[in-house]
Amino acid sequence: MADAFQPERIVVTGGAGFIGSNFVHWVVQNQPGVHVTVLDKLTYAGNLDNLEGIPEDRMEFVRGDICDAQLVDGLLSRADAAVHFAAESHNDNSIADPEPFVRTNVEGTYTLLEAARKHGVRFHHISTDEVYGDLALDDPARFTEDSPYKPSSPYSSTKAASDMLVRAWHRTYGVPATISNCSNNYGPRQHIEKFIPRQVTNILSGARPKLYGDGLNVRDWIHTEDHSSAVWAILTRGRAGETYLIGADGERSNREVLSAILEAMDRPADGFDWVRDRPGHDRRYAIDSAKLRRELGWRPLHTDFAEGLADTIAWYRDNPQWWQGAKEATEAKYAAQGQ
Ligand code: NAD
Ligand code: TYD
Repeated sequence: MADAFQPERIVVTGGAGFIGSNFVHWVVQNQPGVHVTVLDKLTYAGNLDNLEGIPEDRMEFVRGDICDAQLVDGLLSRADAAVHFAAESHNDNSIADPEPFVRTNVEGTYTLLEAARKHGVRFHHISTDEVYGDLALDDPARFTEDSPYKPSSPYSSTKAASDMLVRAWHRTYGVPATISNCSNNYGPRQHIEKFIPRQVTNILSGARPKLYGDGLNVRDWIHTEDHSSAVWAILTRGRAGETYLIGADGERSNREVLSAILEAMDRPADGFDWVRDRPGHDRRYAIDSAKLRRELGWRPLHTDFAEGLADTIAWYRDNPQWWQGAKEATEAKYAAQGQ
């Protein structure tokens, strides 16, 4: 399918984080005519090493805050599209301290939308399936674009608020905006506070993996490269004002994922600890991505979870310098929460 909109200069917010940096690599590899400006504050979750290897003539890096209206205005005045990944992204952190979530996720999105409105910039907003709350384990339903918003945590409620701002700025001011709500991502360069890299790096550093609650909570896993290709499809061929759900039919319980990690890393099946459950812990997420597949012809490439997981484990094993510096502080934070 040919791209209807062909941007030449895009601003990528949060491009030094996990999914944003993957998207920048994907664009540089797959879209030769596109120049990327990354705007990233480099919080604890941002890492310039994530952008290593990108040629200078394809990318400019700007360290800054998406809440800085003057900076954002200047960058969007020189772009024809903005892809907005920057966020505070971790549920457990949002429970411990919600303030930066309200600021970055809500005020930051507002700041970007105002600049997009002023300069007529195409705006793609990256969001999460967690805005829809959770499903019961025995419910055959999956989330669709028509599911009601029912966020549970400070993280998901601030993402829901940001989605609402995008919808309003499209309807009221005509900002040419699209939204995607994606399921749980996995792959290289994910911060070690998140479920899969936390367990893998625990094992690599001689500690035991930690499972919350009863371990039966279900997440719908997608490889981050498939998220990137879906975002490009929506940015260039999606209809303004529309929401698209992104998912790759990857439902698995946390227990199942942990068993796969233990097996792949030659550890005994019971080689983990049960820890305190997350307050308000969502039971199950599941995505029906029929609209994205039907309208835009998108398909995931990473359909073998065991293979994607093995590659991800190998990446953490081969790149200890990337994560070791953050391990102690991350685990100290969890220990203080009984997790
Ligand atoms: P991440 O925490 O790895 O990266 C976030 C990036 O945003 C970091 O580089 C950080 O420095 C930057 N940032 C934070 N606050 C900023 C600010 N005020 N100004 C500028 N930059 C700032 O997050 P991620 O997992 O890559 O998630 C990226 C996006 O995808 C988020 O919007 C998240 O809600 C969404 N999402 C994530 C998942 C997932 O499984 N991780 C699933 C669906 C959607
Ligand atoms: P996480 O990676 O934090 O993503 P999200 O909260 O956005 O789904 O967690 C994924 C699942 O794994 C979630 O059900 C919580 C659970 N979990 C654990 O069991 N142990 C852990 O150490 C972590 C970090 C998460």
